[in-house]
Amino acid sequence: MPAGGDARAAQVSYLDEMNRRALASGGAARVKKQHEAGKLTARERVDLLCDPGSFVEIDRFVQHRCTDFDMEQQKVPGDGVVTGWGLVDGRRVAVFAQDFTVFGGSLSGAYAAKICKLMDFAVKTGIPVVGLNDSGGARIQEGVESLAGYAEIFWRNTATSGVVPQISCIMGPCAGGAVYSPAITDFILMVESSSYMFITGPEVIKTVTNEDVTKEDLGGAATHAAKSGVCHLTAADDPTALAKVRELLSFLPSNNAEDPPRATTTDPVDREVPALDTMIPTESNKPYDIKNVIRAVVDDGHLFEVHERYAQNIVVGFARVGGRPVGIVANQPNVLAGCLDIKASIKAARFVRFCDCYNIPLVTFVDVPGFLPGTDQEYGGIITHGAKLLYAFAEATVPKITIITRKAYGGAYDVMASKHIRADYNLAFPTAEIAVMGPDGAVNIVYRQKIAEAADPAASRAAFIDEYKKKFANPYKAAELGFIDEVIYPRTLRQRLGTALDFLSTKRAETPKRKHGNLPL
Ligand code: HXC
Repeated sequence: MPAGGDARAAQVSYLDEMNRRALASGGAARVKKQHEAGKLTARERVDLLCDPGSFVEIDRFVQHRCTDFDMEQQKVPGDGVVTGWGLVDGRRVAVFAQDFTVFGGSLSGAYAAKICKLMDFAVKTGIPVVGLNDSGGARIQEGVESLAGYAEIFWRNTATSGVVPQISCIMGPCAGGAVYSPAITDFILMVESSSYMFITGPEVIKTVTNEDVTKEDLGGAATHAAKSGVCHLTAADDPTALAKVRELLSFLPSNNAEDPPRATTTDPVDREVPALDTMIPTESNKPYDIKNVIRAVVDDGHLFEVHERYAQNIVVGFARVGGRPVGIVANQPNVLAGCLDIKASIKAARFVRFCDCYNIPLVTFVDVPGFLPGTDQEYGGIITHGAKLLYAFAEATVPKITIITRKAYGGAYDVMASKHIRADYNLAFPTAEIAVMGPDGAVNIVYRQKIAEAADPAASRAAFIDEYKKKFANPYKAAELGFIDEVIYPRTLRQRLGTALDFLSTKRAETPKRKHGNLPL
């Protein structure tokens, strides 16, 4: 830097030049290409995510240290990732945004160190980390330094899990190491048509297995939202994705020592919902949409659904009651009669554990005929996977409120936040049926002999079913035993939830000291 003369002006102009070079990213041509692909640049994304003017960029002048492959001649200040902090609805967040215009957003040692520094800052200050991912994975020119950088990030993702929320927004092709860090974070949102996630791309697959598959089919948003379950949320484009991240953050506390933020609401918490009185069919095999029940009771009818297209036999998502965020878990009688299967168990277990990490009360709607029977499920390990959900509900110490709307049969009754695994407030509608199994199955087993010997087996069978229904297809035996705290008029459910959430807001739960439990993975 020149000395003497107008030193101050020279200093400013040097800083101007550095900033100009950093803000130019990978150059006008690559920025144009990014825009033509329907994608925003890293800085445009950060600006849309954060409240206007609130983002503060750090480490803008960090550069890679690679000397091979003529890399010394190719340096862009910031080295392909924008890091810093800003506000979302006035609340602090740490943000990194990968810049695809610089070496395809690929990760160098220096780039990884920037992300690690940001994550350490987020943990120290107790604020969420949002990653906007758009990266070709490990920077090939850097070899093991890049792999080491990834591992440092993975280690921090793990150490940070359950301390501050981590959200990954996938906004371009993400390959190799670029998918494993998001996989450890709490939520993955993918942009439709412009984002992909895969361990190896279609070309490598063709070489190794001779299989033909497109990028979209292999790792597009639809694939990961509906088939693999890797992705929790999708959005049509970058602005919609960033708006969804902002909304997701509105339900979450900044860290595990805080309560989730209570919103103001104009929806009266003591509102009766007369429609609920007739929403559950009296016939136990008739399907209905549990989302109508959920929307009828939560504030403004708004459910922020997670994993909407995956394992649709269970519904999970965030909502508010009286302004308080809650995590909803609900069997969906409209799909597979609401049975629990492998995918549903895994989906709900992860959601329950997330809510428990971040002090978000759980509201569970139960209408479940049991676990899905069959060789597919048994060979796939439904025993282990179903146990994940049981474990998750049992270990959760956040306020747990359960409403049995209709069927609660067998092991699934126990699993779905029953009183016995320490739910705090268990309600039943008058339509509830709590039993070891449905009437048909039960009568076939218990009265098989008597039915066979009867003069009119069909009439005998019908009589036994009737008797069984009277005895078990109701909530009153469970209420008699105190397993159900209250059988309610459905129209009063919202009031009941509001009051219970108030009372349970001071819930204390001590658990014995241990390193960690051993979730059946
Ligand atoms: C260095 C890379 C790069 C990488 C892309 N680029 N990936 N540079 N290291 N990993 C550069 C390209 O050279 C190009 O530079 C620019 O980024 C844009 O790339 P294109 O290929 O032109 O873009 P596109 O056609 O959109 O394809 C994007 C892509 C593809 C699908 C991501 O580039 C790709 O397949 N990259 C390699 C992916 C990969 O296998 N990564 C390593 C994974 S191993 P110019 O100068 O032309 O603009 C890994 C190990 C970690 O990550 C494992 C930890 C568990």
